Amino acid sequence: MKIKNNIALIGFMGAGKSSVSKLLSERLGKTLVSTDACIETREGLSIISIFKEKGEDYFRQMESRVLEDLCRQSGQIIDCGGGIVMRPPNLSLMRLNCLVIYLESRPEDLEARLKNHTNRPLYNAERLDKMLKLLESRLPLYRAAADITISTHNKSCHEVCEEIEDKLREYENTSG
Ligand code: S3P
Repeated sequence: MKIKNNIALIGFMGAGKSSVSKLLSERLGKTLVSTDACIETREGLSIISIFKEKGEDYFRQMESRVLEDLCRQSGQIIDCGGGIVMRPPNLSLMRLNCLVIYLESRPEDLEARLKNHTNRPLYNAERLDKMLKLLESRLPLYRAAADITISTHNKSCHEVCEEIEDKLREYENTSG
């Protein structure tokens, strides 16, 4: 890719970032990395245990550190944790080093995808009001960070990737 060194996928929990990142990395022949997976490897703990044992602030520090390290490399598809947009320095790093793709999902789609998962410390099926509040507070951040926004509603991973590739071609043509 001409424009930036990496592609970062952002979006709320359950938006499908991991599945899309994996397929996109195969289709574009780029290296797949995940901020969550890097944190788990460094800490030797699952995300849920890090939240439980060390707290969210610690997790956010690790997340920023991992993003900083990943941004020193190139040719990657970076699957970002849903809260990465919450720290302004992360946004600056992404802006400089990544083409940022926001996977935008409807709350009902997120809820449907999340309800079968138990590995997300900030999601609780009994507290959907909390999830909606968090989503609402992050929406402006996702939108402001995005170079490209793709709606995931009623689309398969393949369709989302096809749309991303179309938009990447457009983006490259218009960015010279
Ligand atoms: C988080 C999202 C998770 C993970 C952590 C916190 C968030 O990643 O980083 O549980 O704050 O939204 P996914 O977006 O991949 O679920």
